Amino acid sequence: MRMRKKKNLSRRILACERFVLKSPEEYFKMPEVFAANKLARLEIGCGKGGFLCETAMREPDVEFYAIEKISNVVISAMEKAKAANLDNVRFVIDDATRLLNFVPAGFFDRIYINFSDPWPKARHAKNRLTHIDNLLMYKRVLREGGQLWFKTDNEEFFDFSIGQFDAAGYTVLWETRDLHSSEYAAQNVMTEYEERFSGMGMRIFSARVSPN
Ligand SMILES: C[S@@+](CC[C@H](N)C(=O)[O-])C[C@H]1O[C@@H](n2cnc3c(N)ncnc32)[C@H](O)[C@@H]1O
Repeated sequence: MRMRKKKNLSRRILACERFVLKSPEEYFKMPEVFAANKLARLEIGCGKGGFLCETAMREPDVEFYAIEKISNVVISAMEKAKAANLDNVRFVIDDATRLLNFVPAGFFDRIYINFSDPWPKARHAKNRLTHIDNLLMYKRVLREGGQLWFKTDNEEFFDFSIGQFDAAGYTVLWETRDLHSSEYAAQNVMTEYEERFSGMGMRIFSARVSPN
């Protein structure tokens, strides 16, 4: 679905400037952004940021980074963070595969991938955020014992991802084909897409994995 360009986008991004890391030099200095020695987590493709902001509110002692490549979308997330005065959140407007080249090894304790595009055509498989090439990239920036938490509404994409986790050397710690009926349902924070899909009666697939 095409989204109409938001009015005054540049001005609105500028108003949220303090939440944004703008350049590879800043990505590289991520460990200096917040107070040292806190856990750092990354959401890839945060969209409008409902999940990110709610999770950051629940866990004020964790540093949250969100990367989203579409500024027209991430502005909603940034304005949510600003309205809630969330000091533990920062945004990057870029492609995750670019950002991750600049992040120090072992920096993140957890990566979230929520409802990323399934790219259903086989010839587009490399674009999937859980493609083996991307999973190997995430491995470098995850600390020892770090985890990747994945959610999707698409069963085929879920099956593909489980195969890629194995091929990339991740252990599946937990998986479900119906998150909202699982033991984690009560503590689950829903994303905007998740609310829409589950509202339509669709099941949510989820896995938590860790590099071997
Ligand atoms: C289907 S939306 C889901 C948004 C949100 N996670 C949710 O569940 O409501 C996927 C988002 O991921 C972003 N995205 C996809 N690939 C990305 C990449 N390589 N780097 C940064 N953002 C990406 C897209 O721009 C889009 O906003």
